[in-house]
Amino acid sequence: MVETDIKTLLNKMTLDEKVDQLIQLATLFYKGAKFDGEITGPMSDLGITETVIQNSGSVLGASGAREVIDIQKTHLQDNRLQIPLLIMADIIHGFKTIFPIPLAIGCSWDIELAEKSAEIAAHEASVSGVHVTFAPMVDLVRDPRWGRVMESTGEDPYLNSVFARAFVKGFQGDDLTCDTTRVAACVKHFAAYGAPEGGRDYNTVDMSERQLRDIYLPAYKAALDEGCEMVMTAFNTVEGIPASGNKKLMRHLLRDEWEFNGVIISDWGAIKEIMPHGIAADASEAAFKGIEAGVDIDMMTSTYVNHLKQLVEEGVVKEGRIDESVLRILQLKEKLGLFENPYRGANEQLEKSVVLSEENRVVARELAAKSCVLLKNESILPLNNDKKIALIGPYANNDDILGPWSWKGKGEDAIKLIDGLRGKIKSDQLRVAKGCEINSLTEASVNEAIKAAEESDVIILALGESSNMSGEGNCRANIQLPTAQLNIINVLSELNKPIIAVLFNGRPLDLHGVSDKVEAVLEAWYPGTEGGAAIADILYGDVNPSGRLAMSFPYYVGQVPVYYNHYNTGRPLNPDHPEQEYVSKYIDIPNKPMYPFGYGLSYTTFKYANLQLSAETISPDEQLAVKVEIENTGLVTGDETVQLYVHDQVGEVVRPVKELKAFKKVTLEPGEKKEVTFSLTERDFRYYHVDLTYRSDQGRFTIYVGSNSEDVLEQTVELLHNN
Ligand code: NOJ
Repeated sequence: MVETDIKTLLNKMTLDEKVDQLIQLATLFYKGAKFDGEITGPMSDLGITETVIQNSGSVLGASGAREVIDIQKTHLQDNRLQIPLLIMADIIHGFKTIFPIPLAIGCSWDIELAEKSAEIAAHEASVSGVHVTFAPMVDLVRDPRWGRVMESTGEDPYLNSVFARAFVKGFQGDDLTCDTTRVAACVKHFAAYGAPEGGRDYNTVDMSERQLRDIYLPAYKAALDEGCEMVMTAFNTVEGIPASGNKKLMRHLLRDEWEFNGVIISDWGAIKEIMPHGIAADASEAAFKGIEAGVDIDMMTSTYVNHLKQLVEEGVVKEGRIDESVLRILQLKEKLGLFENPYRGANEQLEKSVVLSEENRVVARELAAKSCVLLKNESILPLNNDKKIALIGPYANNDDILGPWSWKGKGEDAIKLIDGLRGKIKSDQLRVAKGCEINSLTEASVNEAIKAAEESDVIILALGESSNMSGEGNCRANIQLPTAQLNIINVLSELNKPIIAVLFNGRPLDLHGVSDKVEAVLEAWYPGTEGGAAIADILYGDVNPSGRLAMSFPYYVGQVPVYYNHYNTGRPLNPDHPEQEYVSKYIDIPNKPMYPFGYGLSYTTFKYANLQLSAETISPDEQLAVKVEIENTGLVTGDETVQLYVHDQVGEVVRPVKELKAFKKVTLEPGEKKEVTFSLTERDFRYYHVDLTYRSDQGRFTIYVGSNSEDVLEQTVELLHNN
């Protein structure tokens, strides 16, 4: 169908049919559906008629080739103009082959593999009938109390932007019309959903527009620059207006300034929630605010379908505004080839061979291993396979390792830690005891753990949060491990056996009382389907850990938010003089996080030397080459992530103490030295000024290169503007 045909189709639609295109309903409303999706929002009585369902434009949470074909077929029979449904779903970190949670993928700093994971997820989803995924989620996060930090790639605008692009590319490929193995992406949650006050979900977000543009918006923009087809609004307010009714955000910024022409969808229930937010007196006003703001699809409320027609008839909303939204939705259907083939990639045969295939699992295992971050290692790892191991803890033999938002993933398909270890050592070398549940213990369970530990050389303590302790709606004020688990650490640490803590969780934890009691800490996150195998690969040295934190681990929850790219103060603490008074510090804990952004250990060591800049000054049309030598000073081959940060010494407004601008991954053999070169230009020094123009300052910049955001070499360069 060509553009003119779509317009002809639009002209044939009645106002009712147009308005009904704008509702998105969950699968359970459709004939032929076997709903097993997750209800992630209020399912109050929608008050809609059968006709609305027959005219509706899209479905949320359908999958499985047979089911989707049945839903679509019935819908086409019932729909007067045979307009196919768009099938959308949350394919966040894998479809059935589950990859590590996005925060873990962020820690891999492996862009190609991240893209590959999205490509695989798209393929599995598309053969199962899905057309659009509600991903990537690119909300920048600084507060680990917020349950949804697990869905983000972390605290840095640059790293998030690079991943945003990779995920969009992986999901969508180059040509959505021809390549039915891909799905359309929907970047979310626009905007700044990752900054709720107090780390409490759905809570108020309020910040300066400068900070919004500098820190929070770049990753959404990067996704759109990569061609992302859709945008989902956030639940929160921005500048006092709920995002889903925020004209400045959707209409002025997204549409006018960024020229985004794709579909904007509300988050679940968000159009109706404009009312409790308190900027609409009734549902009709909420519908008005949503449509006027520019939101095309109303997810899971009847606010649009029950009120827009009347608003048009009363002349409050122009019919042209409705047409604009309908046209965008039809254009997306067209781009996905649905008018030619409404079933698109759905294919029961392919479903059997593509979904959870061996080759997909291989990629999941590689990415899981690359996402693990070794936080501490006092010469205990890697393990020899002659050691007797006591595997203890609620995650010893637990398949709850896929993490939130793994919808079609099944724990029974996952490789648990115990399975991974069985692949490395003989069964008589392995003692297993639970020790405690996630949140409780008994004397008997502790005694059993002590016995297993006493009969072994090394304790592997598999601890963490159950998956329902993070994700949407699951915020925590206390981000330590649950007390039962802290108790088991205390008991076992009395035995004088080396302890390796392997952590399964969805957020940076407050690890005081953990790190100081054990010899090694491996942060495994929720590692996905191949988790146990990947972790065992690391524990036994078949894979040298290379993950680097994409989000800081606080020293103590009271520091939160603690992030590397903070501002200086007028009274900064001199780290060599913590006793100083009347400086910006806590009197009871350090200022610094326990483990900073970019941090992670390897089984080898890397030495950085000879940081050199190609010039002392650069002008806007010149490039600055930044060179550094890295040497593998240990005994095994390792991957290092070389990180480059900059600092604007004197800005018009205060600038972050460091900002990541580039990174490179290098593999070095023992004793090998490599020179790593980066290239910077004036663009890398730009930021939003007081008048919101995006430009650089003339003056001195510090260039830092190192293995994490704290451990760096530095040089300075002067930027000279031509004028
Ligand atoms: C609510 C979540 O905020 C959003 O991320 C998700 O895509 C929708 N529910 C649909 O499930």
